[in-house]
Amino acid sequence: MPIGTTITEYIIEEQRRIGSVSGDFTALINDVVISCKTIASAVRYGSLVGVLGAADTENIQGETQKKLDVISNNLFIKRNEWAGHVAAMASEEMTDVYHLPAQYPRGKYLLVFDPLDGSSNTDVNGAVGTIFSIMRRPEGALGEPTEDDFLQSGDHQVCAGYALYGPSTMMVLTTGHGVNGFTLDQRIGEFILTNPDMKIPAEAQDFSINASYMRFWDPPMRRYIDECLAGKEGPRRRDFNMRWAGAMIADVHRVLCQGGVFLYPIDSKLRAKHQEGKLRLLYEANPMGFIVEQAGGLATTGEQRIMALQPVNLHQRCPVIMGSRNEVERIISYHLEAQ
Ligand code: AHG
Ligand code: MN
Ligand code: MN
Repeated sequence: MPIGTTITEYIIEEQRRIGSVSGDFTALINDVVISCKTIASAVRYGSLVGVLGAADTENIQGETQKKLDVISNNLFIKRNEWAGHVAAMASEEMTDVYHLPAQYPRGKYLLVFDPLDGSSNTDVNGAVGTIFSIMRRPEGALGEPTEDDFLQSGDHQVCAGYALYGPSTMMVLTTGHGVNGFTLDQRIGEFILTNPDMKIPAEAQDFSINASYMRFWDPPMRRYIDECLAGKEGPRRRDFNMRWAGAMIADVHRVLCQGGVFLYPIDSKLRAKHQEGKLRLLYEANPMGFIVEQAGGLATTGEQRIMALQPVNLHQRCPVIMGSRNEVERIISYHLEAQ
């Protein structure tokens, strides 16, 4: 690889390694990268360009959209719809599958994304990001893609990644051969490989959960966190540390860099709303789960591997427990014991 490898060079090397020649995938990633650079710019200028605050609209989940949710979604669509690599798209901010305008050629990939994860952080200048997942359209599918085409388990992802708009803008990517992190060099406008072959330490001190929901948790989750909180004096015989950024991307990125577990479990409050979790399977849990597994960690609902779940609709939710292998295995064993 050249010194200061760019993300495009990295993807081209990947394609050569697997013997793919069409260049379609490289071109698609390029468009995704440009989308994220554009969103990064809007996020960075914030109030100076009037993009903060609510948009006075709601998405399919009944959440009030931020202006930046809508802007990021539109930027992503416009950048990725024309080039002929994508068959259709779906996102957190759109109720149905997005069909490409008639004049553009159709490609073989399905692109699913959360245009702005942690968007409530935009009001407080906190970290936010974009999550994306790429699948192939099922073999033999004809006509315009339907929702069914998107309902593939996470194991079918050919690529997943996220852009984190923090103090630096980073892009973290997997195509199923490990995880690599790139940092945007603002001076030249390119993502440069800075974190090759990211691996999550198996042991960890950090847990990341919204503890204000503690009274709603199921017994296995209570047990795990209670034991962490008991520290040196408790059954774990060591102290733990708690972190919660309010953006899954930022929390999982910390886990990727330093180890730990990120948890958004099912609880009685979500069940009362007939929700199977808070986070969405196709554009949050699956792509982040793919990255975590490729970095040597685990991603589970507590009872099942996230990437083995068969989705039944586009905006399906699921419990999320991901991160350092030993900690996640322990949480799984607590769920098994509770059955
Ligand atoms: P989004 O902004 O895309 O709706 O996602 C927010 C998600 C996730 O990123 C974060 O971890 C979680 O919601 C925070 O939820 P709580 O407000 O319940 O803590
Ligand atoms: Mn999100
Ligand atoms: Mn979002």
